[in-house]
Amino acid sequence: MLELRGVRAGYGAINVLWDVELAFASGKLTTIIGPNGAGKTTLLRAIMGQIPLGAGQIYLDGARIDGTSTSRMAALGVGMIPEGRMVFRDMRVEDNLLLGAYSVRDRPGIAARLEDAYTRFPRLRQRRAQLAGSLSGGEAQMLAMARGLMAEPRLLLIDEPSLGLAPVVVQEVFTQLAQQKAQGRTIVLVEQNTRRAIDIADHVYVMQAGRVILSRPASEVQLDEVHRLYFAR
Ligand SMILES: Nc1ncnc2c1ncn2[C@@H]1O[C@H](COP(=O)(O)OP(=O)(O)OP(=O)(O)O)[C@@H](O)[C@H]1O
Ligand SMILES: [Mg+2]
Repeated sequence: MLELRGVRAGYGAINVLWDVELAFASGKLTTIIGPNGAGKTTLLRAIMGQIPLGAGQIYLDGARIDGTSTSRMAALGVGMIPEGRMVFRDMRVEDNLLLGAYSVRDRPGIAARLEDAYTRFPRLRQRRAQLAGSLSGGEAQMLAMARGLMAEPRLLLIDEPSLGLAPVVVQEVFTQLAQQKAQGRTIVLVEQNTRRAIDIADHVYVMQAGRVILSRPASEVQLDEVHRLYFAR
């Protein structure tokens, strides 16, 4: 569905990604794991058009899309839930959700999506009129996920959704991801929780220092091998 070929990208004069080759298959969950600073978030930003490529190409369903603006990526069906569970703290929960559907034109469709979000995340329904800034960390992550899903992306990129959450909330995050996967959504999951990420994934990439150092079907990945790669240089 999405393919990167020889991608380089970074920030100004500093290059971070080095000749990255990746493919995300339709309907599958691909996980990208790797230590802090490996370039995982930079990779997602490059895909979303938030930073320009220094080299290489990105293809969506065979069509070249690098250079596409971030807002246009939503129209192409690609959505990202960024790291750090960013919500608009001084807006109500429901208005945060509605922002996720800003590109959707038909009003009945939006109402149905809102209802879907509340069915999927009942706690958000209870808190719908509350300011997002008053949510707990776990609730804020649920809101960030629900908002990302409001656009109903065909391809969902999600950056470290379980970071810093209590085990019970981590469980809920992975349950939601499993449900999304079962519904056929194509998912790219960046995670530090390597065991859970590999468990839920179809394909695993390991990144280190801006390069892909392992690409393998999840069923063939050994956790201790991955952990050894983390510390190797
Ligand atoms: N806005 C920025 N300007 C300059 N350098 C940046 C910027 N954002 C990230 N970097 C650098 O790019 C490199 C990769 O960072 P990135 O955030 O992509 O890593 P990551 O794999 O997502 O790490 P983490 O697991 O900590 O989120 C790091 O060396 C980082 O310092
Ligand atoms: Mg990151």
